[in-house]
Amino acid sequence: MLSVKSLSRSFGGVAAVSDVSFDVKKGHVHAVIGPNGAGKTTLFNLISGVYEPDAGSIHLDGQDISGCAPETLAKKGMSRTFQNLQVCMNMTAIENVMLGAHLHQNQSLWAGVLGLTKSADKRLQEEAVALMTYVGVGEYTDAHATQLSFGVLKRLEIARALASKPRLLLLDEPAAGLNDSETHAMTTLIRRIAEGGITVLLVEHDMKMVMGISDHIVVLDQGRKLAEGNALTVSRNPEVIAAYLGTEE
Ligand SMILES: Nc1ncnc2c1ncn2[C@@H]1O[C@H](COP(=O)(O)OP(=O)(O)OP(=O)(O)O)[C@@H](O)[C@H]1O
Ligand SMILES: [Mg+2]
Repeated sequence: MLSVKSLSRSFGGVAAVSDVSFDVKKGHVHAVIGPNGAGKTTLFNLISGVYEPDAGSIHLDGQDISGCAPETLAKKGMSRTFQNLQVCMNMTAIENVMLGAHLHQNQSLWAGVLGLTKSADKRLQEEAVALMTYVGVGEYTDAHATQLSFGVLKRLEIARALASKPRLLLLDEPAAGLNDSETHAMTTLIRRIAEGGITVLLVEHDMKMVMGISDHIVVLDQGRKLAEGNALTVSRNPEVIAAYLGTEE
């Protein structure tokens, strides 16, 4: 579904992503792991069109999407969440989810959202409620974002990402900041999303989640791909152990 080839991006003297290649298979859960600063978020920012690559290419279903804007990618079926929550705090929970639905439509984002809330578009509202219920935050539809706990906001962001009806969902550290039981519930949700037919690419430090959920794992270290394979292969790789799994985590 997704093919990343020789992707590179530097910031000043820092090679954040350097000559990284891998494929994401349709219907699978893929993970990108690596120590802090390994280039995982930069890789997501390149794939999701936040940054343009210095070199290399990204193909989605065989189509070159390198350098495409995030809105264009949303229409092509790609959606994402962010390591640092990007929820609009001056909106209600359901308005945030409807914002995601708008990425799927051919309307100006802000004008559309404002128009929608005014005209109370029933269908999109119902879809947003259904998505919020699906991710487990259905009781908070009318709550203002500022009233919601961190765990609820993380799920809300996933509902917003799902609202654009993605085929490929990128999750940057879905378990970050969550406690053990919330992480367990998040793992169940991601598995359910994948079983529902959405291909998932996630970045995550929580090894229990990664190892328990991923069909395929790519390990980055200092911008480069160190290893890839299934959980067993990767966790037994001496270079990976030295670079990453050798830490307490
Ligand atoms: N916009 C930017 N400007 C300058 N440097 C950047 C920028 N984005 C990332 N970097 C640098 O690129 C390197 C990779 O950062 P990145 O955020 O991709 O790592 P990461 O693997 O996501 O780390 P973490 O696990 O801490 O989230 C780091 O050295 C970082 O400082
Ligand atoms: Mg990151």
